[in-house]
Amino acid sequence: MGLALRNILLCAGVAYAVPWTGTANDQKPLDPRPSREGALKIESPPQKPNIIFILTDDQDIEMNSLDYMPFVQKHLLDKGTLFRNHFVTTALCCPSRVSLWTGRHSHNTNVTDVNPPYGGYPKFVSQGFNENFLPVWLQQAGYNTYYTGKLFNAHTTKNYNNPHVKGFTGSDFLLDPWTYNYLNPAYQRNQEPPIIYHGQHTLDILIDKANALLDDAIASEKPFFLGVAPVAPHSNVEGDISDINEIDQVKFSEPVPLKRHAHLFPDAKVPRTPHFNPDKPSGVNWIAERPQLNKTWVDHNDYYYRQRLRALQGVDELIDGIFKRLEENGQLENTYIFYTADNGFHVSQHRLNPGKECGFEDDIRVPFIVRGPGISEGAISKVVTTHIDVAPTIFELAGIPLREDFDGLSIPLEKLKQERKRHEHVNVEYWGFAVEEGSYGGTLFWNNTYKALRIIGENYNLYYSVWCNNEHQLYDLTSDPYQLRNIYPGYADHDSSITVLGAPLTRVIDRLDSLLLVLKSCKGTVCVKPWEKLHPDGDVETLPEALQKEYDAFYKHQESVRFDRCEAGYILDAEGPQDALSYTRHGIHWSHWV
Ligand SMILES: *[C@@H]1O[C@H](CO)[C@@H](O)[C@H](O)[C@H]1NC(C)=O
Ligand SMILES: *[C@@H]1O[C@H](CO)[C@@H](O)[C@H](O)[C@H]1NC(C)=O
Ligand SMILES: *[C@@H]1O[C@H](CO)[C@@H](O)[C@H](O)[C@H]1NC(C)=O
Repeated sequence: MGLALRNILLCAGVAYAVPWTGTANDQKPLDPRPSREGALKIESPPQKPNIIFILTDDQDIEMNSLDYMPFVQKHLLDKGTLFRNHFVTTALCCPSRVSLWTGRHSHNTNVTDVNPPYGGYPKFVSQGFNENFLPVWLQQAGYNTYYTGKLFNAHTTKNYNNPHVKGFTGSDFLLDPWTYNYLNPAYQRNQEPPIIYHGQHTLDILIDKANALLDDAIASEKPFFLGVAPVAPHSNVEGDISDINEIDQVKFSEPVPLKRHAHLFPDAKVPRTPHFNPDKPSGVNWIAERPQLNKTWVDHNDYYYRQRLRALQGVDELIDGIFKRLEENGQLENTYIFYTADNGFHVSQHRLNPGKECGFEDDIRVPFIVRGPGISEGAISKVVTTHIDVAPTIFELAGIPLREDFDGLSIPLEKLKQERKRHEHVNVEYWGFAVEEGSYGGTLFWNNTYKALRIIGENYNLYYSVWCNNEHQLYDLTSDPYQLRNIYPGYADHDSSITVLGAPLTRVIDRLDSLLLVLKSCKGTVCVKPWEKLHPDGDVETLPEALQKEYDAFYKHQESVRFDRCEAGYILDAEGPQDALSYTRHGIHWSHWV
């Protein structure tokens, strides 16, 4: 869809003929300011809202970490909306952060790893994003922009000035190889050289820096964006994690809390859910080969979990400080505050030692809370949203026309908009290795490359994935919320009598696979409305509609998602078919989409 059409969709009250009634036709800012250039401005517009974005590192929602954060509860959960079906699209820090700040899937940023050649700050720069990402766009729209904490990986004391990060009015970044060293962090302010804070806790320093930037932002009397990205509750890391050749010498250990929090929650343990260290192996590929954790590991992982909760207390204090300052300065009423994490985390689920990088709920589902003008207090929304939607959401708040290269759709922050129909899918993708963290960690698992689809609608809730070794997973989370029974044909829990939405599994799998085929290389609005690529006539907008028998032959004819080999990055010729056929009622039949 061209920019022009997108702009039309931004206007209020324009009838939109396509039956899909997502929020695209309501994409006007929450305040009544017209967002189309050249629109009549009768009164001078109210000041654009401020935006504060708090981004934790590796914070779960599925292990209940939010329950241990009283100030998050008080300022955000009680006064804002929790988006409970919010997902990341790549469960790894750097790719996920690049997607957040560019509004594009990893397959469209090609920043797919934490380190070069496939990822990290150098790849972000070489892909041209230093001139083309959220803070730059916000500055162009009249915002002052500030950031402190971790921006990306492989952003180091050596490369920080080659080039400097663009787009920030004020910045104070954590730098590798000290980013995750809780008691020896390196911070680098504006254009100044880095400082290593020997023996000082990273969160105490971050709280001071965030407060100082917030004071600057408020004093500037312009609308502002402030990003605050604490390293907690990521593992403590010693050694040069930004050098792939050194990675086996890197020492992972539990997160280190502030002294004043070190005694808390002595009895806390990883929740003993059915997928906690299960008797049967989980998943496929390397995951299916994991042995059950023995007592030594289970105890260590419980300790690791407590250290996460303790380390998060510093983040909780940070939140309280930010809200106090906003309130004292009369800024609370004109500020949107976002709280989320770059990816989720697992500790002992599916027999896995501490880590992320998998497609299970633990790793892809993250906290996402928004508070601000017009947003319901103490509410929980079930709309399906992702990190790809964040940049468009911020654009909408700032009254900036959406970019054509955005792969997502603005998140309906207001309750009324949440009741409208929105898409059901999440596109999940991953390349490269997974790593075990914690004191017994360090092991790398290669060939952790996969494409996955998470799909949630009324009466259906599925996870489907295709790995680079061409293994498959299919979980029906309605009956199997902990993803313990892979019902894909050929696996032990498959049973040909299983149905989903009344349809036999083969029919369901054909549809899921075609949807994944579209999503794995989608761009722009195709990522938002992938069914429209398969059914350009507009007859199908959801999985239940696609399941009609009349489409069986079409879906059988479609090529399947597959890999030709495992690669550690986005190497196109390893990734099988790229193009999906589309179904048309008139004319001959099925043609390649152009
Ligand atoms: C648990 O497993 C680890 C690694 O396999 C091993 O080093 C350790 O000795 C085991 N502990 C017990 C109590 O069996
Ligand atoms: C990864 O997959 C490739 C094939 O694509 C295979 O040659 C290699 O042995 C695999 N590596 C591991 C560690 O399993
Ligand atoms: C992604 O980047 C890698 C590393 O530079 C490159 O080899 C690959 O071809 C790129 N993939 C695409 C699809 O452009």
